[in-house]
Amino acid sequence: MNVLVVGGGGREHALAWKIARSPMVNRVFCAPGNAGIAGVAECVDIRATDIPRLRKFARENDIGLTVVGPEAPLVDGIVNSFNSSGLKVFGPTQQAARIEGSKVLAKQLMRRHNIPTADFRTFASAGRAKAYVEMVGAPVVVKADGLAAGKAVIVCQTEEEANEAIDRIMVRKDFGKSGSQVVIESKLEGEEASMIAFTDGETIAVMPSAQDHKPAYDGDKGPNTGGMGAYSPAPVVTEELTTQIERDILVQTVHAMNRDEKPYSGVLYAGIMITEDGPKVLEYNCRMGDPETQPLLMRLRSDLVPILLATTEGRLDEMEIEWDPTPAICVVMASGGYPVGYKTGYPIEGLDEVEEMEDVMVFHAGVRREGSQVVTAGGRVLGVTARGDTIRQARDLAYEAVGKIHFKDAHWRTDIGRKAIDRLE
Ligand code: AMP
Ligand code: GLY
Repeated sequence: MNVLVVGGGGREHALAWKIARSPMVNRVFCAPGNAGIAGVAECVDIRATDIPRLRKFARENDIGLTVVGPEAPLVDGIVNSFNSSGLKVFGPTQQAARIEGSKVLAKQLMRRHNIPTADFRTFASAGRAKAYVEMVGAPVVVKADGLAAGKAVIVCQTEEEANEAIDRIMVRKDFGKSGSQVVIESKLEGEEASMIAFTDGETIAVMPSAQDHKPAYDGDKGPNTGGMGAYSPAPVVTEELTTQIERDILVQTVHAMNRDEKPYSGVLYAGIMITEDGPKVLEYNCRMGDPETQPLLMRLRSDLVPILLATTEGRLDEMEIEWDPTPAICVVMASGGYPVGYKTGYPIEGLDEVEEMEDVMVFHAGVRREGSQVVTAGGRVLGVTARGDTIRQARDLAYEAVGKIHFKDAHWRTDIGRKAIDRLE
């Protein structure tokens, strides 16, 4: 079978790498892919959001399964489009992907179905939103309704900050049409974790827990990014919490989507805050996390392709999914200045040496090839991922590999995994 992976970041490199190892697979394509993905798949020069061209490519190249990495094509309806042409595709429909595409819809779904989340109100008018902030007081979290690559979630410590956030989203439209409505919710305290599951709408197969590191700098300081590193499992999610999150959040969400006539198939990602009152949903994503996918797929012992096929065909109940019990960790190497402003085009050295290391994988994100040289091409450049017998060993190995890789102005957090190590030791 030929498989097409849609996307071109570290998550898609991990997906293409794992899929290419499947004995069921003949050729793996990736659109658009990147210079690292080219080592495991044939890159195709089509943007991840160009649904008509992707569909044409899938038809002409005998693609038996398309796997969609990022949220934008899912929210734009790539699954509906492929299904209507009889093409098999892994992911939720446009209607179901709105669980990520509209924060207003996601919050209303949680309220109607009693799924634990922060208290909130939604507003279509900046004036009313501000009046509400004045009434409830700070701190609050202000979120634009639509997709904004995680940038339009603003945690506000004061009323002034909240008013400014409302102006940015609703009046100045800094995030475009995603800001026609806002969610204003109470700020939750606790430690975050990512709980990600395969589901065909009936069966739910929860992956091991993971934890992302969103802020740019050590000690969770600085602006939020797409994610500076991740590890799995996350010790903050005890066995008891895992059961509770599965029962009260993931199962409830999938049922709620069925009851709302938006049956959900693909990957459902719940961003969770472990609060003193138990786990609460911060957000849903309709796809795998980036960088959580990198350590998760390093831990997946089973062949991924039959799992993806079973999910799209509604027979996930037939699957036994086996995970490596030992942990894995991913340290993101970014361009200096990310996420605010950064330069690209710098040569990356040391990749060959790291390739020789056992239990280490370097997943490429913002890279491109210039002649024989791989150069930086984005904010998040590489996801250096390692496995170990303990989280400390995995962490040390990942940082050993990071130490061998060089590019100008490289920035990485030095404390990925510290929370897990502190908790365990
Ligand atoms: P989201 O895209 O909704 O996950 O938000 C991005 C990040 O903002 C989360 O990972 C949290 O760190 C933070 N955040 C979002 N909502 C809240 C909340 N209600 N309380 C505290 N932090 C939040
Ligand atoms: N790592 C967070 C996300 O993928 O949204």
